[in-house]
Amino acid sequence: MPIDQSFLDELTARCDIVDVVSRYVPLKRQGANYFGLCPFHNEKSPSFSVSPDKQFFHCFGCGAGGGVISFIMRAEGLEFRDAVQHLADQCGLVVPEEQRDPRAANRRTRTLALLKDCARFYYDTLWKPENAAVQQYFARRGLTRKTMNRFGLGYAPDSFGATMDAMLAKGYTKDELVDAGLAVRNERGHCYDKFRNRVMFPIIDIRGQVIAFGGRVMDDSKPKYLNSPETFVFHKSRNLFALNLAKKTDRDYFILAEGYMDVIALHQAGFDCAVASLGTSLTEEQARMIARHTKQIIISYDADGAGQAAAQRAIDILKKCDLQVRVLRIPGAKDPDEFIREKGPDAFRRLIERSEGHNAYRLEQIAAKYDLEEDDQRIAFLQDAARLLATFENAVEREVYQGRAAQMAGVTPDAMAQEVKRQTAILRKQRKKVEHREIRSAAQRVQPQDKRLRYEDVHSARAEEGILSLIFADNTWIDRLADKIEPSDFSAPVLAKIFAHARTLWEQGGVVSIAGFEGYLDEGELALLSGILSRPPILTGQEQAMADYIAIIRRCRARRGDTPAGGEDPLLALAKQKAKNVGGQ
Ligand code: CTP
Ligand code: MN
Repeated sequence: MPIDQSFLDELTARCDIVDVVSRYVPLKRQGANYFGLCPFHNEKSPSFSVSPDKQFFHCFGCGAGGGVISFIMRAEGLEFRDAVQHLADQCGLVVPEEQRDPRAANRRTRTLALLKDCARFYYDTLWKPENAAVQQYFARRGLTRKTMNRFGLGYAPDSFGATMDAMLAKGYTKDELVDAGLAVRNERGHCYDKFRNRVMFPIIDIRGQVIAFGGRVMDDSKPKYLNSPETFVFHKSRNLFALNLAKKTDRDYFILAEGYMDVIALHQAGFDCAVASLGTSLTEEQARMIARHTKQIIISYDADGAGQAAAQRAIDILKKCDLQVRVLRIPGAKDPDEFIREKGPDAFRRLIERSEGHNAYRLEQIAAKYDLEEDDQRIAFLQDAARLLATFENAVEREVYQGRAAQMAGVTPDAMAQEVKRQTAILRKQRKKVEHREIRSAAQRVQPQDKRLRYEDVHSARAEEGILSLIFADNTWIDRLADKIEPSDFSAPVLAKIFAHARTLWEQGGVVSIAGFEGYLDEGELALLSGILSRPPILTGQEQAMADYIAIIRRCRARRGDTPAGGEDPLLALAKQKAKNVGGQ
C-alpha cells in the first residue's frame, strides 16, 4: 500500500465521518445511524446512511459506500492520494512524503512526461512545412495561430509507427505508450500508433498537465473523433476540456459547450470561461468541479435534438450543485462555433444577455410541442406544463411560472394551480414507489452491483458475506477461525480478498474496520463491503451462525469440486470427498 497504514489510521481517527459528510449533506440521527439524502444519486427521501460507530457510509438506494476517504473521493472527484491530502489539510496532518511508493509515483511522473512529450511531438509535426494542408485545415476553421498555441493543437502523422518511434527515441517503452493510451497492442502483441492522420487536441487537467488526447479526422470519415481510452491518469468523467484556462476567467459565469471546437472558438472570441465534457454527457463530478469555480453556468449545446435533450439532462445535474443555470439558444447555426464564425463575438454576447433561466427554457420547450390555438392541445399543454411545475422545489419559482404557463395556455391562474397540485400529488406517489422499490431491491440484492464482482456461487458467497459481517462486528473471530477456514475456501475472489486483508490487519495489531480497506479496495469493492456491513448484525447465536456458514462454504466447495489453493490432485480430492460422504458427513 502506498501510504503508511498507521498514518491513515490516525487520519481516519481524526476525521469523524459524520462531521465530514455533514459538510455535504444534512444528516439526521435515527437510532444508531445518521440518515440523509444521498449526494451520489437523485432522491427525495433519505436512503443514505452513515454509521458513527463503524465509520462508514452506505446508500441503500444506489449502493455507494465506503469510509471517510472514499466519501471524499466520490464527493470531490479525487484520486485516493488527493483525497487523503484533502482530509489531511483539513485536520492539520502532514502526509508522510517518504512513505510514497516510489514506483507508483514514478509511473505517474513518467506517464505525464510521456504525454507532454507526445503533445510537443504532435505540435512540432503540425508546423512542419510538409503539413501545410493540416495548418490550412485549422485556418479554414477560423483559428488563429495564437489560439492554436494556447490549446496546444497538433497533428498525428499518417503512419502506424512515427509517433511511437519518436517516443521510443526519447527513452520511453512500448508498454508505457500503451499504458498512456498512445499506442495499441493487437492480439499478436504488435504495437502501433493509436492516433494517425488526425488533428490533435490535448486534454489538459486543472493543474495544466496533458492527460489525454482527442483526435479529429480532417474529412468526413468516421469516427470523427477518437479519444484516449481511460487510463490511470485520465478519467473522462472527472475532467473538463479547457478547465485549466476557464478557472482563470474574470467572468462570473462559465459556458458549457459540447465540442472541443466550440470551446476553442469561444475562447478565441473572448469567452475564456468555456468548458466542455469529454465526449460523454455531463457527469455529477464534472458539475461539482464547475460549481467550485463559479455560481452561474450557461449551457450552450448544439441546436439539434440530441443537443437539446442533452441540455435537459445537464440542467438537472447542474442544478443539484446549486448552480444558477441558464440555457442559450443558437438561432440559425448548428453550434456555438458556427454561430461565432458567421455572426461574430458580439452577436454571441447578445445571445448570452438574452439567455433565459432554465425554468423558462423548459417551459418554452414544452410549449413548442403544442399548437396553443387549438383547445385540446392547450389542455395537453396545461397538463404537460403542470408536470414540469410540480417538480419545482421552490414555491416562489412555482408561483411565477405557474402564472406564465396559465397565460400561455389562456386559462386562469387558479385552474393552472389546481392542475399543478394534482400533478404534485401524482409525482409524490410515484417517487415514493420508486424509492421503496430501490431500497427493497438494495436490501435483497444477492449479487454485487459492480458486474465485475458477480458471484459464481451465490449460496456460498452469502455464507462468506456472513463470516465477514461477524468478523467486522467482533474482530476476535479472526483468531477463532484460524484453523477453520482459509481465504482459498471462499468462492468469491473479492470476499476472499477482504477476508485475507482483514487477517493481515489483525495480525499487524490493528483494528479491522472499513478504514483499513480504503485505498486497498476499489470503489466497487468498497461499496460491496459497506453493503454487507450495513445489514442488521446477528446479536445472538453467533457461534451457531458461524458454524453454519463454514459448513455451507465447505459443502458448496465440494459441490464445485475445487481443489485447495495449494493445488491438490483432483483425483485424490475426489476420493477423499467420497470417503467423507461414506463416513456420513
Ligand atoms: N465526440 C467524440 N467522438 C465522436 C464525436 C464526438 O468523442 N465520434 C465528442 C468530442 O468531444 C466532440 C464532442 O463530442 O468535441 C461534440 O461533438 P461534435 O459537436 O460533433 O464536435 P465539434 O467539436 O463540434 O466538432 P467539429 O465542429 O469539428 O465537427
Ligand atoms: Mn462543431
